[in-house]
Amino acid sequence: MLMLRRSVDPDWAPRVTRDLNALLVDHAHLERKAATTAIQLEKYRELFPKVHALNQIAIEELQHFELVLGLLERRGWSFGQPQRSEWITGMMRGVRQGRRESAIDHLVVCALIEGRSCEKFQILAAHLAGSEPELARFYQSLVESEGNHYATYLIMAREIDLDETDARLDWFLDRDADLMALRHDLCILH
Ligand SMILES: [Fe+2]
Ligand SMILES: [Fe+2]
Repeated sequence: MLMLRRSVDPDWAPRVTRDLNALLVDHAHLERKAATTAIQLEKYRELFPKVHALNQIAIEELQHFELVLGLLERRGWSFGQPQRSEWITGMMRGVRQGRRESAIDHLVVCALIEGRSCEKFQILAAHLAGSEPELARFYQSLVESEGNHYATYLIMAREIDLDETDARLDWFLDRDADLMALRHDLCILH
């Protein structure tokens, strides 16, 4: 799907699944932020014609948020404090000023966040299949939706400007690879 330039470290899944409660709380916040981001994108004039498609993504992300909260509750765990992701912060810092530039960059970063989530859900599904089958099935169930969000955001950016989007995608793929090299010991998705 994606031309990612750095693969997820082989020890990533065992590291982040040490504390599944923390991982699920982080995941809940990611879905919450994905919903609000889809709505924030509606502020760009270039995306006014996409308002229904963006609302649809926001609705799906809110549904994912509810599903993660349901999983937390069934396990007797509670929703809690979000943790900061250096990868997401670093990617967002690359978004340029200027409405049109910002719209394209924001869409490219959203596409890469969705793409990395899609990739990592597949890794988690495989890693947890034996020990946590319910959780493994849950992660697998999100793969298609996040993959569609990746494609939708990238298409939206390309419809604003194909060449500029591809140039920015190239730039953000390098940044993604650099940021992926920074190791952390937090039980978070990104
Ligand atoms: Fe989602
Ligand atoms: Fe998504």
